[in-house]
Amino acid sequence: MDKKYIVANWKMNPQTWAEAEQILDFVDDYLGSLGESKEFSLIFCPPFVFLEEAGKVLKTSHFEHEAFLGAQDIFWEDTGADTGEISGPMLNKLGAEYVIVGHSERRWKLGEPDETVNKKLKAILRNAMVPIVCVGERVRDGNFKEFLKEQVEKTFAGLTPDDIGKCIIAYEPVWAISSNPGARPDTPESAIESIHMIREVLIGNWKLEIGNLPKVLYGGSVTSKNAADFIGQKEIDGILVGGASVNKDEFVKILSQI
Ligand code: 13P
Repeated sequence: MDKKYIVANWKMNPQTWAEAEQILDFVDDYLGSLGESKEFSLIFCPPFVFLEEAGKVLKTSHFEHEAFLGAQDIFWEDTGADTGEISGPMLNKLGAEYVIVGHSERRWKLGEPDETVNKKLKAILRNAMVPIVCVGERVRDGNFKEFLKEQVEKTFAGLTPDDIGKCIIAYEPVWAISSNPGARPDTPESAIESIHMIREVLIGNWKLEIGNLPKVLYGGSVTSKNAADFIGQKEIDGILVGGASVNKDEFVKILSQI
């Protein structure tokens, strides 16, 4: 069986590199205690300012070949006068192999439309990194399937089937993300329904072959209490963890469920 992906999206946390290092050291010790039998691939996505140091730590000790570096965002141009932006070649040089794109906090808080997500997604692929493409409805209303279908179509517009096959998709219903008021996790059953729908849109619109389908993760209020329920489903290739990924005890508890 393929290894499951566990992606830690630290968002704008922690506040210092010393705290970040503590989290990494704690997880590294846990990996050491597992020996050879790891059933997961770990991807850490720290804030930009910690990427370089985190990248060095991930090349050492028990992390080596088991854990990978990801960025939380990218700019769509490779060079230029673009104040505040970080380019694909810059991320490459820091050793980032994955980049989150289309996270709902960028789509909704910062107003990034599907067209922007699409341009960033193309920049990630152009720079030979793996996009972790977030999609998900804002509310679970009678229209949510239509919404999700259109979001997937616009997010992946203009990509070849091969390109889509290189992506990892994260289904993250916005209402399930822990930082949103009243958030609650989706159930594995209903997450699987949405994941099926996403796969059907890709198969229908891009004629993707079954063997070339992207991996699909679930994200939204994943904790040590429900991680096993999601990870245990064959239709769910992993989890994208936010809040719980910067709590070292809780994160290791999540890993211990796999
Ligand atoms: P939480 O795990 O805090 O709900 O965050 C999910 C998320 O947004 C990960 O990208």
